[in-house]
Amino acid sequence: MRKKTLLAGLALLAGLGLATTGCAGSNGAGAAGDGSGGDDVITVGFAQTGSESGWRSANTESMKEAFSAENGYDLIFNAADNDTAAQIAAVRDFINQGVDAIVIAPIVEDGWDDVLQEAADAGIPVILEDRTVSASDDLYASWVGLDFKKEGVMAGEWAAETFGDTPTKMVVLEGTTGSAPANDRAAGFDEAVEGTAIEKIDSQTGDFTRDGGKTVMEGFLQKYGVDGIDLVYAHNDDMALGAIEAIEAAGAEPGVDIQIVSIDAVKDGMQALVDGKINFIVECNPLLGELTSGLVRDVLAGKDVEKKVYVEDQSFTQEQAAEVIDSRPY
Ligand code: AHR
Repeated sequence: MRKKTLLAGLALLAGLGLATTGCAGSNGAGAAGDGSGGDDVITVGFAQTGSESGWRSANTESMKEAFSAENGYDLIFNAADNDTAAQIAAVRDFINQGVDAIVIAPIVEDGWDDVLQEAADAGIPVILEDRTVSASDDLYASWVGLDFKKEGVMAGEWAAETFGDTPTKMVVLEGTTGSAPANDRAAGFDEAVEGTAIEKIDSQTGDFTRDGGKTVMEGFLQKYGVDGIDLVYAHNDDMALGAIEAIEAAGAEPGVDIQIVSIDAVKDGMQALVDGKINFIVECNPLLGELTSGLVRDVLAGKDVEKKVYVEDQSFTQEQAAEVIDSRPY
């Protein structure tokens, strides 16, 4: 790891109101991609959530591609297996190693204040990707990701239009408890279906995993029966795919006997949509690597960056999915 010099980082940290003590956290002169023509390697610690879903695999791949050695990075990658304490420990480890910048996809929103303050005290800029935190935005340089609440609203608007005044029993497969996408997708959907005849009869976490979605759906089917459930709202495609397995094992037809709306638009989810087993999918674009590495370069070069960078999502009906599935990059 190269020795740091406090150049461009000072401007950034002053702008953020962060402490500038400590020895790490710059990369001003000669950093790769900063426009100065230098070729120093930038060391970045990336604390990923884990490998819970197809979305996560695509996101990890995108990050590893963007933060490659060819692009001038030394990436220290950590996947925390959805364990918040392990993820925070990984960030502390990055701080102790004196990396140039830290990127975090935070598993949950709460509990980040102390370690973000420690990074600030060490003069190491933090960029969040994908998920958000509840800590003050003074403690990180920028966030890039998707509007999870809007995704929930888009899923809910489809449900409201599809079921309208028809009495509809809905079960929800929630993402990881305390995570930004689980919180915001629930809030957005609930807002969009308010005043309709859709009744949420149950809601449990499947932790964004296929196995979790399957197990929770099996429980719902045992409790309410196939005839007692009209609609599944899954916070991601993997849980929807697990639910499909559970519905088929119960002798029913997913997408027909029980309709399914989910979020992500990863390959397997889109295939299930084309096959008529899912009814509607809202996209959540995992290809955040280039934008994140651009932010890291800009922050280290002392440039002003947006505090929040939103990536636009689309949505797909079964017909639309059939048209685009072959050209989807993930
Ligand atoms: O934070 C994004 C979410 O995390 C994706 O929707 C889900 O599949 C992943 O695990």
